[in-house]
Amino acid sequence: MVGEHSFDVVVIGSGPGGYIAAIRASQLKLSVALVEKYPTLGGTCLNVGCIPSKALLDSSEQYYNAVHRFAKHGIKIPPPELDFSQMVARKAQVVEENSRGVELLMKKNKVAVFHGIGRFASPTTVEVVNKEEIIALKARHIIIATGSKPATLPGITVDKKRIITSTEALSLPEVPRELVVIGGGVIGMELGTVFARLGARVKVVEYLDRIIGTFDRALGKELLKISRQLGMEFFLQHAVQSVEYVNIDRIQVKAVNSEGSPVFIEGDYCLVAVGRRPYTEGLNLEAAGLTTDAKGFIPVDENCRTSVPHIWAIGDVVRGPMLAHKAEEEGAAVAERIAGGKPLIHYHLIPNVVYTWPEVASVGYSEEQLKESQRPYRVGQFPFLASGRARASMDTEGFVKVLADPLSDEILGVHIIGPRAADLIAEATLAMEFKAAAEDIGRICHAHPTFSEALKEASLAASGLGALNM
Ligand code: FAD
Ligand code: NAI
Repeated sequence: MVGEHSFDVVVIGSGPGGYIAAIRASQLKLSVALVEKYPTLGGTCLNVGCIPSKALLDSSEQYYNAVHRFAKHGIKIPPPELDFSQMVARKAQVVEENSRGVELLMKKNKVAVFHGIGRFASPTTVEVVNKEEIIALKARHIIIATGSKPATLPGITVDKKRIITSTEALSLPEVPRELVVIGGGVIGMELGTVFARLGARVKVVEYLDRIIGTFDRALGKELLKISRQLGMEFFLQHAVQSVEYVNIDRIQVKAVNSEGSPVFIEGDYCLVAVGRRPYTEGLNLEAAGLTTDAKGFIPVDENCRTSVPHIWAIGDVVRGPMLAHKAEEEGAAVAERIAGGKPLIHYHLIPNVVYTWPEVASVGYSEEQLKESQRPYRVGQFPFLASGRARASMDTEGFVKVLADPLSDEILGVHIIGPRAADLIAEATLAMEFKAAAEDIGRICHAHPTFSEALKEASLAASGLGALNM
């Protein structure tokens, strides 16, 4: 059966890029269709990314605190028992609730949802292919928001049983006894710490000489120290070459160290977390007159417009950080552009967070980037050890680092590792969007006692006035 419909905008992919684009387009009085190949809406972020990983991070932190920290707070309980299947079931429930929330949002905003694979039949028609039918959607504008999939390495076959990606790691049947994580990036550290807190022996094998390599070096150094205290082992400057089964329930990772010698690391599971690749399979881009670049991304200009003027692409499938909030900003901006608006995204001010505990969060330039561009800067740093609020909750690890221009005092970068860093970074981002000086944050009254006082203190230090509580 073939049906045909016409819309102002057809969005392919219901992740945070796609569904936000659909909502904004509808708010701007455009008729909108959203195409999603899976039965549930929300994309990677909601189904197998941000939301389920944060649910497990929270649960594992609660468990860890019950085992290791309650007694210090004066709470005596019998040794807690881990019910891992309940932990995974709670995570699944959180995902389901969120996905249903997106369905409701689509209904509320009168977005027509079509389930099936979206593929171009021509530059102006997207066909939705599912088991029952093919439906043709004609569109004035098309937004590609098909996201990304886990990448792997040559020499590694992900069998989804014991050699797994983040997707399987979020639904394991058991806590691994020994987990080898390939890649000390964001996923490696977030999921690595989940299982370390639940009792797994976690070994991270990382190609670089540091973890979370895209962040300011000082943050990676501090997170490495804290993660080692948690019992995690690190094999830095080790390039993984292959993963093999040694028997039915044991794997062995082969890596080469900085001296060029082979190193073998064993475990009962291996999590491959070496980045993600843009996903365009099944789209039939040729029919739209589009191609991908050498890395598989759909080329777009600064406004997310492809080489075909009425076709746009956003989120993980285009250049820039692979982050849900970046996809959302692009989704809303493209919908506004289609409706005649001229929104701008400051890519340089997209915050980046690692949801370990303590959390890591950054915005703006790192110290290394400023050095490389030979831009002078002043540093102000404040340790959470000196924060009354942090001492009250026993969260004294980490610091806030503010980088500011030595002449104008404009804030150039803020880098935080510590309690609630993910929330604290919003103040820094706001300040930087308004081109604030470090002294501006330093002179704003911050409630006492709060973690946010650490940002005020680091800003005072960076401005040259000097921190008051250190
Ligand atoms: P996606 O969310 O990948 O959505 C794309 C959608 O398109 C999918 O639903 C897919 O099924 C659909 N699709 C693809 N092809 C077709 C087709 N031909 N037809 C129909 N539908 C199609 N980011 C953060 O900012 N914060 C985090 O805490 C965070 N945690 C993460 C944790 C993990 C474990 C992972 C894997 C990722 C995490 N991310 C996080 C990254 C975040 O999930 C992505 O950046 C974000 O989902 C990208 O959004 P998107 O809309 O571009 O694509
Ligand atoms: P990543 O790019 O953060 O880290 C991959 C790591 O693997 C790098 O450190 C790299 O040096 C290492 N690596 C590559 N090849 C290797 C080899 N042969 N041997 C050893 N190490 C090797 O990618 P990751 O962690 O897979 O995450 C993918 C993306 O998902 C991230 O870029 C991020 O954008 C997004 N994400 C965001 C989260 C957040 O915002 N909190 C959470 C999880 C994912």
